[in-house]
Amino acid sequence: MVKIAIVYYSMYGHIKTLVEAEKRGIEKAGGTGDVFQIPETLSDEVLAKMSAPSKPADITVLEDPSLAGVFISTASLGGGQESTALAAMSTLAHHGIIYVPFGYAKAFAQLTDLSEVHGGSPWGAGTFAGPDGSRQPTARELEVAEIQGAEFYKTALKHFG
Ligand SMILES: Cc1cc2nc3c(=O)[nH]c(=O)nc-3n(C[C@H](O)[C@H](O)[C@H](O)COP(=O)(O)O)c2cc1C
Repeated sequence: MVKIAIVYYSMYGHIKTLVEAEKRGIEKAGGTGDVFQIPETLSDEVLAKMSAPSKPADITVLEDPSLAGVFISTASLGGGQESTALAAMSTLAHHGIIYVPFGYAKAFAQLTDLSEVHGGSPWGAGTFAGPDGSRQPTARELEVAEIQGAEFYKTALKHFG
């Protein structure tokens, strides 16, 4: 049995919606995913100025991570769907956390389809929040997040099960 931790930070809720899809994917693959949030670093005053809603009180704050995948929400197409994942690598390295890339193999059709706007890359699932945060993750983006969750679980099971 492998325990999967889905670790996230979400200021406005987009990433949290992707978290729920990743969890569904893990569960479809036969696993379980426990959701953790990282501690807030901003003051209540700053959060209020950014119109940030309260954090969920029922999701545990993470203490000791070891295996990670990444998924991303940006405002726009050039906002960092891939570069955010690259930037995350140094943080993972500094904390000694193993990175599991998503890859193309399990979602090639979804990732390369240009018939609709969608986030996501071989680095991990993704969504676009839009300039005002009003856009929500699409069915395609949630499908990719579910596939990533399932594949992450299988990788963890293979190496740590
Ligand atoms: C401090 C800050 C920096 C941001 N930088 C970028 C950015 O460089 N590129 C981009 O596309 N979106 C950027 N955004 C928009 C966020 O990606 C967007 O608010 C986020 O996807 C919303 O996710 P959430 O609802 O889970 O908090 C930024 C937002 C904040 C608050």
